[in-house]
Amino acid sequence: MTLDDLPAVARWLREPHVARWWTPETTPEAEIDEFRARVDAPDGATRMCSVDLGGRPIGWCQWYRWADDPDDAGAIGALASEIGADYAIGEPAQIGRGVGTAMIAALVAHVRTHHPGAGLLVAPEAANGPSRRVLEKNGFSLVEVRPIDTEPHTRPMAVYRLPPAGGC
Ligand SMILES: CC(C)(COP(=O)(O)OP(=O)(O)OC[C@H]1O[C@@H](n2cnc3c(N)ncnc32)[C@H](O)[C@@H]1OP(=O)(O)O)[C@@H](O)C(=O)NCCC(=O)NCCS
Repeated sequence: MTLDDLPAVARWLREPHVARWWTPETTPEAEIDEFRARVDAPDGATRMCSVDLGGRPIGWCQWYRWADDPDDAGAIGALASEIGADYAIGEPAQIGRGVGTAMIAALVAHVRTHHPGAGLLVAPEAANGPSRRVLEKNGFSLVEVRPIDTEPHTRPMAVYRLPPAGGC
């Protein structure tokens, strides 16, 4: 992601299908401020990626080492070696067509270019059926469903794990 991508991300954060999951406890402006700081620090703990389809931006992802945030890692039950991620297809016309499934596959491959073979731990809200499904379709297994202490709400989260490549 570059700073030039942020106006589109700001627009997508206001799309109802994204806002429902990304901003119930915050605002698009606050999210964009965080994203800008991360884009400005490309070697920082959270890496931002633009998601393109056929050369056109349609969404974004972010990923991070759980080890860089021990409080969150402890609350979610992440292993020190695992990677976390969040994602969105922003363009409403592109959801429900298999693009999100392909995005997760690309995200896992991208993460593993930086951390070869790494396992991932990702926790969408339990009520977010499409987000859970795209993880399941990429080989993630459900670990547990429960609220996470460090989240700003008490809604249950569905914790999914993708084991290290070549692991079991
Ligand atoms: C979550 C998201 C990335 C999924 O991408 P997508 O392109 O819509 O997903 P796909 O089309 O690849 O697959 C969606 C799957 O969910 C299923 N699905 C759709 N609605 C569902 C529901 N309410 N409950 C359960 N599964 C559902 C679809 O049937 C499909 O599975 P199938 O191929 O087995 O039939 C996308 O919808 C999105 O960005 N949503 C808004 C932001 C968001 O929720 N981000 C995740 C926060 S953790």
